[in-house]
Amino acid sequence: MTVSNNTLKIRNVHFNFEGIKKHWVFNSSVATNFVNSMHIVFPEGEKFFVRSVRKYSKQLKDEQLKKDVIAFCGQEGIHAREHQNFWEIMKAQDLDPQVYAKFLKTTAFSGKYSIENTLIKFGDFFQKGLGDKMTLSLTTALEHYTAIMANALFHEPFANTDNIEPRMLELLHWHASEEIEHKAVCFDVLKEVDGNYYVRVSGMVLASIMLWSYIGMGQLYFIAKDKDKSIIKMPFEIYMLIEKVVFGEIGKNLSKHLLDYFKRDFHPNQINDQYLVDNFFKDKTYA
Ligand SMILES: [Fe+2]
Ligand SMILES: [Fe+2]
Repeated sequence: MTVSNNTLKIRNVHFNFEGIKKHWVFNSSVATNFVNSMHIVFPEGEKFFVRSVRKYSKQLKDEQLKKDVIAFCGQEGIHAREHQNFWEIMKAQDLDPQVYAKFLKTTAFSGKYSIENTLIKFGDFFQKGLGDKMTLSLTTALEHYTAIMANALFHEPFANTDNIEPRMLELLHWHASEEIEHKAVCFDVLKEVDGNYYVRVSGMVLASIMLWSYIGMGQLYFIAKDKDKSIIKMPFEIYMLIEKVVFGEIGKNLSKHLLDYFKRDFHPNQINDQYLVDNFFKDKTYA
């Protein structure tokens, strides 16, 4: 069992999003709505993570891990709240985020026929309790994604206040820091509950399909809703996003660390990035 070597802290941070302009990433509808989609996917996903891991919190033998699960749930709860607070700004911009949130809940999380509930029923059909293990495996894989996306964000040269609205960049960096901070919690819970390699990696296959599909569908939905997009600028904006995200530092960093997950002896703490968290929090009053 790998025990977390840092103490997790719940930081009750409140962001003020008043007056954030509509295209707050690169002055681009395509780039902004890519991240806007994450403002919906993250909170709903984080509520799912908490539901999945809490089912096991009482039965854990490792006392430190039990405390880490409580802190993990606290951190994710505040992430979800702050991203969801940004929906007010998106509503005022006529982007109707609640419509996409409802679609996401119905089809992916918590809805009667959602992927979450179908996975539980499907797993339990083969073996009692396998359904909950599979949702934990999906959570663990998505947590690996959030941690490596966080790492990539810190290494991406374009992620600076010239290109991204400063308050939004701080929100993203704060969230990224806590994702790196708690990256091993769900992994360690899954390891204690079921150390089977195939249970772990099957979660990653589903996580990869779900994450990019729902972010992509959300992006298309918000671009369609965006009355201020420029059709003329759009091909250039699409090219820029693909160049930056897929072929830039983010893409290179993500693909490298994604493959790490498939190593049999992988553990999230093998990626040494706690220094990114320490650097970010060193001058923050809320650290
Ligand atoms: Fe989070
Ligand atoms: Fe997380």
